[in-house]
Amino acid sequence: MLDGKKTIFSGMQATGNLTLGNYLGALTNWVDLADDYNCYYCVVDEHAITVRQDPTALRQNARKVLMIYIAAGLDPEKCCIYYQSHVSAHAELGWILGCYTYMGELSRMTQFKDKSAKHADNINAGLFTYPVLMAADILLYQSDLVPVGSDQKQHLELARDIAIRFNNIYGDVFTIPEGYIPKAGARIMSLQDPTKKMSKSDENENATIHILDKPDDIIRKFKRAVTDSVGIIQYTDDQPGIRNLIDIYTACTGKTVDETVREFDGKGYGDFKMAVGEVVVDKLAPIQARYDELAKDKAYVDSIIKNNAEKASYFANKTLRKVQKKIGYPERIR
Ligand code: TYM
Repeated sequence: MLDGKKTIFSGMQATGNLTLGNYLGALTNWVDLADDYNCYYCVVDEHAITVRQDPTALRQNARKVLMIYIAAGLDPEKCCIYYQSHVSAHAELGWILGCYTYMGELSRMTQFKDKSAKHADNINAGLFTYPVLMAADILLYQSDLVPVGSDQKQHLELARDIAIRFNNIYGDVFTIPEGYIPKAGARIMSLQDPTKKMSKSDENENATIHILDKPDDIIRKFKRAVTDSVGIIQYTDDQPGIRNLIDIYTACTGKTVDETVREFDGKGYGDFKMAVGEVVVDKLAPIQARYDELAKDKAYVDSIIKNNAEKASYFANKTLRKVQKKIGYPERIR
């Protein structure tokens, strides 16, 4: 607790272009919560290397993600927006927490199973211990709340288990974090296969809306969205394509599912797809405009990167030193 405010931590991987799923599942909630909390919003470049990255692309993508955070409405003077790799305490605490995490726990992680199936030629140890580093991210800042999409729920529960285990041995070292998963938008699905999560790395470019996509591309992708032959706009598991479009519409407009179903009662899928595309274009337009301005202001973005890395390091090192002392690392001689 700092200045009477609780603390939020969250992050996104610095891979590829952020998607509408990243925005509706997480980023938009980060912005909504920012005024009431002390916030750390990290660009997780260390997590990104669990799959092979082109070095130049990784650097560019990391900067893009950081600028999108700001463009989406996070004020970098108030929220600490920074790169994970600039704060070495993440990796250091990650090592320590790995010694308090069981192989069995890590092998149950569905993201590990999915990613190892997808990258069968590179099932590296980092992919396996990924959730430990994520626990370190969260616990370093004594975070109370972690706003994420529903796919991160299992990782978050593991972070809580690790923190509780550690506290049981050494006393109250870590705050036990709670997840914050939005009602609308927690799991946005692919527009081409609505049984699959919308993902940055989808090879079918019609499947994913990116935050920086041009309006024409957004509308075109929605027009091509896969639906069904039922012909009725209703919210049911049997119509995953339409259900996904309703989720996107409600998350963008703040309307309820019932209101949305009533609004489009008797309308055709074509009209509905256009309406969803238009609310998404309207939602993303101001972010894109601000992003273009930021992209031209290198000095400003650089100053944010430098100042916030220092701020994050200061707080993270306080927790790290406390942990090191508790577990019995030798004292530093000053
Ligand atoms: P990442 O980079 O895959 O996704 C970033 C955030 O976006 C959410 N998200 C979605 N929400 C709804 N629908 C979707 N289709 C969708 N796709 C992604 C994710 O749930 C996430 O909130 N391991 C994390 C990054 C991370 C992290 C952390 C998060 C590292 N350390 C500490 C929170 C706290 C990840 O890979 O997210």
